Amino acid sequence: MSTAADLLLRNLKPWGESKSIDLAVVGGRFVIPAPGMTAKRTIDAGGRLAVPGFIEPHIHLDKVMINKDVRSNRSGTLTEAIEIIWEKKKTYTTEEVVARAGSVIESGVANGILHFRTHVDVDTIGGLKPMEGVLAAREKYRHLAGIQIVAFPQEGILRNKGAEELMWKALEMGADVVGGMPFNEASPADSKRHIAIAFEIARKHGADIDMHVDETDDPNARTLEMLADQTMENGWQGRVTAGHTCALAGYPQDYATKVIAKVKQAGLHMITNPATNLMLQGRLDAQPKRRGITRVGELLEAGINVSFGQDCVRDTFYPFGRDDTLEVALLAAHAAHLSMPHQIEQVFAMPTVNAAKILGLKEYGLKPGAPADVVVIDAPDAAEAIRLQAPRRWVIRSGRVVAETEIRRQTWF
Ligand code: FE2
Repeated sequence: MSTAADLLLRNLKPWGESKSIDLAVVGGRFVIPAPGMTAKRTIDAGGRLAVPGFIEPHIHLDKVMINKDVRSNRSGTLTEAIEIIWEKKKTYTTEEVVARAGSVIESGVANGILHFRTHVDVDTIGGLKPMEGVLAAREKYRHLAGIQIVAFPQEGILRNKGAEELMWKALEMGADVVGGMPFNEASPADSKRHIAIAFEIARKHGADIDMHVDETDDPNARTLEMLADQTMENGWQGRVTAGHTCALAGYPQDYATKVIAKVKQAGLHMITNPATNLMLQGRLDAQPKRRGITRVGELLEAGINVSFGQDCVRDTFYPFGRDDTLEVALLAAHAAHLSMPHQIEQVFAMPTVNAAKILGLKEYGLKPGAPADVVVIDAPDAAEAIRLQAPRRWVIRSGRVVAETEIRRQTWF
């Protein structure tokens, strides 16, 4: 007589597979169902598309939902978005950071996100209060999603005296990843030093690095190449991620080709944030206005690992967003001109297998022995999931159903 399963999942259609499969859950992990296996609950997915959870690799949970408390961003630029938050950041409490972050974690999970990587501001304005808040949110929602925390020196490290000490403390407090924003320094020499300091912290803690890189239309920004160089010098290939990289889109072609080759050589992971950067970039351009999106197509062609993030939800950078992976996928496909069938599959890979490489999720997969995480999408395939913005019918974390969505719609002729 076989053991009763906690959950039996019938007719899952794993993304990338041609046939539906059945999986059972015992002790929070997948097993192959034994013949005649009983279960406390059975779900028939009916051949719907299934993934082992969406992954949100780039969000700012300390800043989400803040725009109701601050004035609007009149210029619509990144610079003003950062400055508006200064006053508010001084008044953060752990409780309100948990409340704001929590509302987005909860909606993200309902949308099928089971892993987040969040950047959290570390600077002398808010001190370590944002970090305390997001650490508390991580603890509160541990049963719903995994949350990696990046210590993010948004105000610079050299230009914000005291930030370096806070960065070291943030890692000791529980941040997992070393962040950076090297373009936000006074000179190229300081940008290089900013990156070097991040590597000192990463080496000491054995941590990965994930930086905001060249989030500007300025084609003279050079910190992506600096990051690639220092990644190779430190032997950190495969452990470093560059987010945004908007300036890459503005480089002359010969320099862009050289930098993309270095990014590949350094094994950098790349994250584009189409929602925020479509909104922020190109603001100061006369027509034609630049789109502000990094060279996603060329990066993919070069065999570089590319993902995308929501980045912002109702903050001074971006007034919309609901941390819905399929919404951002639709934006990414439009912004990066990814319309061919194989390119749509590449888009779907970004918040799944590609992001899993960035977060280092070695057990990610719908396979026996893996954590029983699965999202069943009410669509037959990836292209239809994106086109229809299909409901996430069941969201399952460690074998427990944590969210269900059923939409009933009727049309009368
Ligand atoms: Fe960001």
